[in-house]
Amino acid sequence: MPIPQTLTIRRPDDWHVHLRDGAMLQACAVHTARQFARAIIMPNLVPPVTKVAEASAYRDRIRAAVPSDLKFEPLMTCYLTDGADPVELARGKKEGVWVAAKLYPAHATTNSAHGVTSMDQVAKGLEAMEKAGMPLLVHGEVTDPDVDLFDREAVFLDKVLFPLLKRHPGLKIVLEHITTREGVAFVEAHPDRMGGTITPHHLNYNRNAIFKGGIRPHFYCLPIAKREEHRLALRRAATSGNPAFFLGTDTAPHSTDTKECACGCAGIFNAPVAMQVYAQVFAEEGRLDNLEAFASLNGPRFYDLPPNEEKVTLRAAPLDVPETVEVPGLSKTITVFRPDTPVGWSF
Ligand code: DOR
Ligand code: ZN
Repeated sequence: MPIPQTLTIRRPDDWHVHLRDGAMLQACAVHTARQFARAIIMPNLVPPVTKVAEASAYRDRIRAAVPSDLKFEPLMTCYLTDGADPVELARGKKEGVWVAAKLYPAHATTNSAHGVTSMDQVAKGLEAMEKAGMPLLVHGEVTDPDVDLFDREAVFLDKVLFPLLKRHPGLKIVLEHITTREGVAFVEAHPDRMGGTITPHHLNYNRNAIFKGGIRPHFYCLPIAKREEHRLALRRAATSGNPAFFLGTDTAPHSTDTKECACGCAGIFNAPVAMQVYAQVFAEEGRLDNLEAFASLNGPRFYDLPPNEEKVTLRAAPLDVPETVEVPGLSKTITVFRPDTPVGWSF
């Protein structure tokens, strides 16, 4: 079958985004809002977003940072800390502020110092979420320094996530930014209660790319990219049409200088190229027919939200996006994710 030259789908949503705050938010919000109608906003600010009032004020700042000609709805999340308050969780859900809560194991990643040290510490909060029908979004990596960096997701599934599912039978859970075949299998094994987001970059390259010709900080994120067999499992899952898998870019901007240094930050800024890279992956797999399900239908279905009515059209044309985005407030730039392989879709 010839590859189509255009593809029209319902407007997509991004179910995993870091928009930051202040000058970074001003520079980044437009790039997500150009591509997506709604986005789940990660709460790992400094300090983290743990209170309903903080999330509501942050939502206002995001709305103000998006140009008025773009229609965009931020969906807010609560950062879970030890002793997370069940009353605050239930109240924020009831008031329409929280859509979900995010679990960062303490010290797993960027701004996770206030994260959870043990699941016992959040049991009461998770019970409140079960009752309120509020999903838990999980950064699925153990932080034990004795566990190899590349094994941290697989170990998390056995040691933390499986017991968590049993302990909270009514809780819906998203395994965020899946990077392993074990993560794919885990989501597939619990279709009634679990979803999984998959990023464009984890579909595009494997761990070799991080070290090709030298160390490449703009390919470094957490969870780190794994072996080729895992990338292939992610591509199969994302393009399969299975409703458990949906789009989450994990776009995570850091200024270029904080990535190109002796101890570079984890995070990939892919917002300006996200739909183009996803379309390229689906085209390569011969599954462009399933892009709309992954990008625009499966996420709303998991979150019990209506899909967007608006349509967008992708065109077969080479990627045409600047290599960097300016952050005028900081006199800095952010480097945009650029795959090593050609991207033949424009958005
Ligand atoms: O690479 C990452 N960057 N992984 C995360 O989990 C957090 C994110 C960030 O906030 O920079
Ligand atoms: Zn993230």
